[in-house]
Amino acid sequence: MKKLFIKTYGCQMNAYDSARMADLLAPLGYGTTDAPDSADMVILNTCHIREKAAEKVYSELGRIAQMKREKPELLVAVAGCVAQAEGEEMVTRAPVIDMLVGPQSYHRLPEMIARHAREQGHVLETGFPALEKFDHLPQAETTGISAFLTVQEGCDKFCTFCVVPYTRGPEHSRSPESVIAEARALASRGAREITLLGQNVNAYRGTDTHGKIWNLARLVAALAQIKDVLRIRYTTSHPRDMDDDLIAAHGSLEKLMPFLHLPVQSGSDTVLQAMNRQHTAEDYLRLIDRLRAARPDIAFSSDFIVGFPGESDADFAATMELVRTVKFAQCFSFKYSPRPGTPAAGARKLVGEAVKSERLLALQALLLQQQDDANRAAIGRALPVLFEKPARDPGQLVGRTPYLQPVHVHGPKSLIGRVEHVRIDSLTANSLHGALMESVPA
Ligand code: SAH
Ligand code: SF4
Ligand code: F3S
Repeated sequence: MKKLFIKTYGCQMNAYDSARMADLLAPLGYGTTDAPDSADMVILNTCHIREKAAEKVYSELGRIAQMKREKPELLVAVAGCVAQAEGEEMVTRAPVIDMLVGPQSYHRLPEMIARHAREQGHVLETGFPALEKFDHLPQAETTGISAFLTVQEGCDKFCTFCVVPYTRGPEHSRSPESVIAEARALASRGAREITLLGQNVNAYRGTDTHGKIWNLARLVAALAQIKDVLRIRYTTSHPRDMDDDLIAAHGSLEKLMPFLHLPVQSGSDTVLQAMNRQHTAEDYLRLIDRLRAARPDIAFSSDFIVGFPGESDADFAATMELVRTVKFAQCFSFKYSPRPGTPAAGARKLVGEAVKSERLLALQALLLQQQDDANRAAIGRALPVLFEKPARDPGQLVGRTPYLQPVHVHGPKSLIGRVEHVRIDSLTANSLHGALMESVPA
């Protein structure tokens, strides 16, 4: 068997794509490996979202060039968003690349490998062949207890800081039938939790075979009918696309987990407008209230950008204020990074690096405090935990609460893939610890 090493950068959709590429290359005799040195083929599945993410790829390519000098038959492919954004330029800068493939074209990898063997030149595929990809991918083979499933791809929102509309192309939804079939296949292979993925997943508009359009709420309701699927999540949502049906679904669908990633980016209306987010801080807070009314135990996470061009002290204070009002369970926050080709990259009123760092530090301290509060609030409660795998300590399992907090519990391996109630006793830096509420036979 030939060995395939895939290194994945960026978001969960890239993780999903990497798993599909592995499935796609399995019939060609490739099995995945964790050891790059033993690989016959390397795929870097890249991310273009911030400068740091993109630069990492080039340092990795430097290491791979060294490997290829020792093993000239090594195949080197670059996939993902840097491949899409930079195209040919990338091959000029890193001639070690044999194949370059964008996120909408990776189903063509097998024929690209054949073409490379025939022609020995660089092979590039970076078009946006509409929706073709999902018709050509094999059924998902590899899955854990928790699985990703892409239902929507691309973005038409054009936030002024963001490369995604250029790297992933226009918004595009898979048909409900193909999503349901994939969910069933994943469940039959052992998946018990499915996270529906999309760059704007709540903008999902899938057309069924009767020509009817489904929104995300309808899709989630249909997936909740699959007996072995115990938990459903979806990410990432845009505040503008949270429709009434989806809010109501949080109140009516038990399997839909009460934890929502709903990025707001900033708490200042001036900055939100400059970012082209097309909603105000007040709109966001109203949305949070409505979701809490539908599902009182719901928790939220968000992404934030600090130091967007023109962000004043007062703008940043508004972000801190919004965070204090919402009380998030867990967040990601970043310094603004100008990206080539995006409208904000040409802005003149830049925020200095020192100020960015200072703001990021202050925001992260507050967010960490809120995360700690949320974790502490679990102590003493009984929470349903989905067990995913054995822990490092023998006799222990790791599972997750509805809020994705890891929990360590003593219990038999037979619990893996099941949801049991756990009384949470303590919190360490990285995990909750607790005990099963009922004794379970081994
Ligand atoms: N589709 C998602 C986000 C995708 S990118 C959404 O609409 O929210 C993930 C996160 O990266 C974004 O939410 C944003 O916080 C951050 N990000 C995107 N572009 C960035 C940039 N140029 N600089 C810094 N952070 C950025
Ligand atoms: Fe980027 Fe905005 Fe689209 Fe999210 S909604 S992917 S932040 S352009
Ligand atoms: Fe990165 Fe592309 Fe995802 S830019 S965040 S890998 S959509």
